[in-house]
Amino acid sequence: MAVQLRQAVVTDLPAIYRGEERYIRCWKPEHESAWRNQLGRHLSRWVENFDRLTVALVSDQFAGYSLWTPEQDHAELCTIHVGPEYRRNGVGMVLLAAWAVDAAKAGFTRLQLSVRPDNPARTMYEKAGFQCIGSGAHGYLLYERRA
Ligand SMILES: CC(C)(COP(=O)(O)OP(=O)(O)OC[C@H]1O[C@@H](n2cnc3c(N)ncnc32)[C@H](O)[C@@H]1OP(=O)(O)O)[C@@H](O)C(=O)NCCC(=O)NCCS
Repeated sequence: MAVQLRQAVVTDLPAIYRGEERYIRCWKPEHESAWRNQLGRHLSRWVENFDRLTVALVSDQFAGYSLWTPEQDHAELCTIHVGPEYRRNGVGMVLLAAWAVDAAKAGFTRLQLSVRPDNPARTMYEKAGFQCIGSGAHGYLLYERRA
C-alpha cells in the first residue's frame, strides 16, 4: 500500500477526533465521558502541536495520523492511529519512521511511548526496534528507542 505523509491541516481535525474516539471506545470505554469532558484540552494539544501532527494518506484518502511532543530529554509519541480498513499494510510503521526522522531533525536522540500491555500495537513497536524499559502510570508499559 503506497503511503503518503503530510503535516495535518485544520480540516483533518474531525477525522482525528473520530480516530481518538474510536481508540477510547475500544480500549477505555469507561473513560469515554471523561475524555469528552476534556475535549477542549485535547483539541488544544492537537493544535499546539500541529507541526508534529502527521497525516498518512493512501490513494489520497485519510488513513491515519500520529502526534508527538518534545519533552525535556526525549520525543514522546502521544498518539498513533490507523483506520481499521487500512491496518496491517505498513501505515503504522511509516508513521513511526516519520516520527523518528522528525524527532532526530529536532535534535532528539531518544524516542519514548507508553502502551497498554494488552494492546497488540506493542508488536509493531517491538518490530520497529523499541524496547520495553518498564511500566509507568496506570500499568502502561514504557517503550524506548534511539531516534
Ligand atoms: C496500532 C496501529 C496504529 C497499527 O497500525 P498498522 O498500520 O496496522 O500497523 P502496521 O501495518 O504498520 O503493522 C506493522 C507490524 O506491527 C505488528 N502489528 C500491527 N498491528 C498488529 C495487531 N493488531 N496484532 C499483531 N501484530 C500487529 C505486525 O507485526 C505488523 O506487521 P505485519 O502486518 O507484517 O505482521 C493500529 O492497529 C491502530 O490504529 N490501532 C488503534 C489505535 C492504537 O491502539 N494505537 C496505539 C496506541 S499505543
